[in-house]
Amino acid sequence: MSITSFPERHGSARPKVTTTTIQEKKQRREPITCLTAYDYPSARLVDEAGIDMVLVGDSLAMVVLGYENTLPVTVDEMLHHTRAVRRAVRSAMVIADMPYASYHLSAEDGVRNAARFVKEAGAEAVKVEGGEKRIELIHRLRDAEIPVMGHIGLTPQSLHAMGGYKVQGKSLAAIEQLMRDATALDRAGVFSIVLEGIPREVAAMITTEVSAPTIGIGAGADCDGQVLVLHDILNLTFAQPAKFVRQYGDAATLIRDAVSRFKKDVETHAYPNEEKSYHLPKETKSAFENIATRKRAMR
Ligand code: KIV
Repeated sequence: MSITSFPERHGSARPKVTTTTIQEKKQRREPITCLTAYDYPSARLVDEAGIDMVLVGDSLAMVVLGYENTLPVTVDEMLHHTRAVRRAVRSAMVIADMPYASYHLSAEDGVRNAARFVKEAGAEAVKVEGGEKRIELIHRLRDAEIPVMGHIGLTPQSLHAMGGYKVQGKSLAAIEQLMRDATALDRAGVFSIVLEGIPREVAAMITTEVSAPTIGIGAGADCDGQVLVLHDILNLTFAQPAKFVRQYGDAATLIRDAVSRFKKDVETHAYPNEEKSYHLPKETKSAFENIATRKRAMR
C-alpha cells in the first residue's frame, strides 16, 4: 500500500462540456477532440489536457484486460472502469461504450444496461455500434433521457460478421448503406457519430450530409472531430499500430526504463537511502536505543 497523500483538487476547471458544446463546435467548424481512458490517472490527465470527450471504450477489453478482441468485456467490468473515469473527470463529457451483447438481444436490455451506466457510473452518454438496425434502441434511449453516440463503419463488435477488421465502405453498395446508416442515426437524434475505418472521401460526404458531429478514427481529416485509443498514442498496446494511429509518446519505454532502474537500485542497495526513510522522533529515540542495546546484550 502507498501512503502518499493525495491533495484536494483546487483551481478552476474549464467549462463543462455537454452535448450542446459538441454540437456547437460542429456549427463553428471547431475540431472536436476525444480520447479513450479507462482509469483515474489516465482520465484525469486527458481531462486536464482539455480534451472534449473521454470515451470509456470497450477497447478496454484488449488494451487493459488483455483479451484478443472486444467481445468478452462485460457490463460490470465496463461499469467498474467508468466509475473510476467519472471520479477523475471534471469538464470533459464522459461517454460509456455499451459492450457486446448488452444491447444486441433486445432494446429493453439496451435501455436497462445504458441506464446503469448513467445511474451507477455517472456516464453522460452511451455509445452503441450499428446504424439503421439500432434506430428503435436509440429512440428508447432518448426517451430514457440518455444521449447516444452512434458508431458506424468498422465496428469491432461485428468482428466475426465482417470477417475481420477491414476498412469498410469501399464499394458503391457499401457506401450507400453507410449513408443510410448515418442519416438514420442523425434523424434518430444521436448527438455525434463515430466513423471508424472508412475512406476519407466517404467520411467527408457523411460529415456534410448529417447535422450530428462526426468523430473519425481512421476516417480521414474531414470529420468534425477525431478519436483515438489512448494506449495507441502512447505505445502501450504491444502491437503494430494501425495505419491511422500517430504515436505521441512512448510510455512502454518510459515504464520499462523506470522499472529496470528500480530493480537495479533495490538489488544494489541504492534504494531506499536515508532520504527516503522515516526516522524516530527525538523523544522516542534514546529510549528505543536503550531497548535495542539491551536486546543485543541478551543475544
Ligand atoms: O472502444 C473504443 O475505443 C472505441 C473507439 C476507438 C471509437 O470504440
